[in-house]
Amino acid sequence: MPVQVVVGTQWGDEGKGKYIDMLAAGADVVARFSGGNNAGHTLVVDGVKYAMHLLPSGILHPHTLCVIGNGVVVDPAVLIREMDMLADRGVDLSRLRISERAHVILPYHRVLDALQEQHRGAAIGTTRRGIGPAYSDKAERCGIRMCDLLVPERFARQVRENLSIKNRIIECVYGGAPLDPEAIITEYLGYARRLAPHIGDTVSLLAEAVEGGRKVLYEGAQATFLDLDFGTYPYVTSSNPVAGGVCTGSGIGPRQVDDIIGVLKAYTSRVGEGPFPTEQKNDIGDRIRELGHEYGTTTGRPRRCGWLDAVMIRFSARVNGLTALAVNHLDTIGRVGRIRLCVAYEKEGRRTRDFPADLDQLALCSPVYEDFEPWSEDISGCRNWNELPVEARRYVEAIETHCGVPVRYLGVGPGRESLVLRG
Ligand code: GDP
Ligand code: IMO
Ligand code: MG
Repeated sequence: MPVQVVVGTQWGDEGKGKYIDMLAAGADVVARFSGGNNAGHTLVVDGVKYAMHLLPSGILHPHTLCVIGNGVVVDPAVLIREMDMLADRGVDLSRLRISERAHVILPYHRVLDALQEQHRGAAIGTTRRGIGPAYSDKAERCGIRMCDLLVPERFARQVRENLSIKNRIIECVYGGAPLDPEAIITEYLGYARRLAPHIGDTVSLLAEAVEGGRKVLYEGAQATFLDLDFGTYPYVTSSNPVAGGVCTGSGIGPRQVDDIIGVLKAYTSRVGEGPFPTEQKNDIGDRIRELGHEYGTTTGRPRRCGWLDAVMIRFSARVNGLTALAVNHLDTIGRVGRIRLCVAYEKEGRRTRDFPADLDQLALCSPVYEDFEPWSEDISGCRNWNELPVEARRYVEAIETHCGVPVRYLGVGPGRESLVLRG
């Protein structure tokens, strides 16, 4: 299928990076379309672990062209660090293209992200990478784009203008220390010189790839329930990580997308604040966290853990138009003990399978569970559906039934090869 999309169906960290890395082997182009370095995608190749925050995870395959699309917000210092880290490991970075339309994260975005978190009534638990303030500037039409970095006088004027207002907000509203525009200009023009060969027209590049029948793989970051429109607002990120974001975040049309794979874990995790109906704030949650090594790739925070919620995945299937599911950590869930799957919510004495928009209504929902037997075998070496214990197959079949989408892949370990194709 020429144009494939991989998206998260929960609250992020479902293991999207592993599928991107695997599918990139057959792709000509791999593109990011939303988010920034709030993402942390782990790839394990020949036992070596890579944590990618901004670079598309296809970069480890020598033949793929890697694109950072217009919908991404780019922190140039982070990008250059990541490029250097990979260059040291022998990866060729000449295959990287960055959209001239992508917005730039500046130091005042990071400062404002931290100050807003401190002063909010209820903190969101952001990654403090400046993501929200950078997207706010984009919507407010005072953002600075990658193409601006290439025109020093214009860039300097934009930074001075923006900071004259931002500094007043930082100082007068939040009591923070003002930033020096000239230091920022000098620092960022240095980044511009380094990144200039990579910045260009990625809309034409992607259009030509699609028109030429080449395989393009879109790498989702964050996830459906962190989406600005469809997530548990306001406990969300500031972009549209759903499949629709591919079009606005890279410049292809909706009819050009062929296949949309939704990644989930066989349980649920969440970093940061916000509702989580199936959360287990008990020894079950602790056990999932320890067995699944559930600590953030970006911030190192312990992830909140709980049972898989099919109401959420069903909602994700709808808003993304999913064609297939990829279920990770089947190896982990089998070791937890008796497994529970949330198949509906009960609210004021009535059953529903619809995920409410209003968080007060969500708080009234209690999960309705179906229980499944665990399995004692180590399944990390399984590569075929028929090799899996019957209990594991039953659990996967129930996921398909309750979510309404066929499962195509099952993850049985962190490695590129640790996959079972659903038979
Ligand atoms: P992403 O942000 O969606 O790419 O996911 P992260 O990389 O942040 O988190 C997923 C974590 O689970 C990483 O540590 C992966 O190496 C690991 N992982 C992915 N799939 C599996 C799996 O099937 N089994 C196990 N045990 N670990 C997995
Ligand atoms: P990947 O791509 C998990 C969460 C943060 C916070 C909220 C808003 O690795 O799945 P932000 O810094 O974006 O303004 O924070 O979103 N968050 C993620 N959680 N995985 C991610 O990315 C995330 N990106 C943002 O923890 O709750
Ligand atoms: Mg992650």
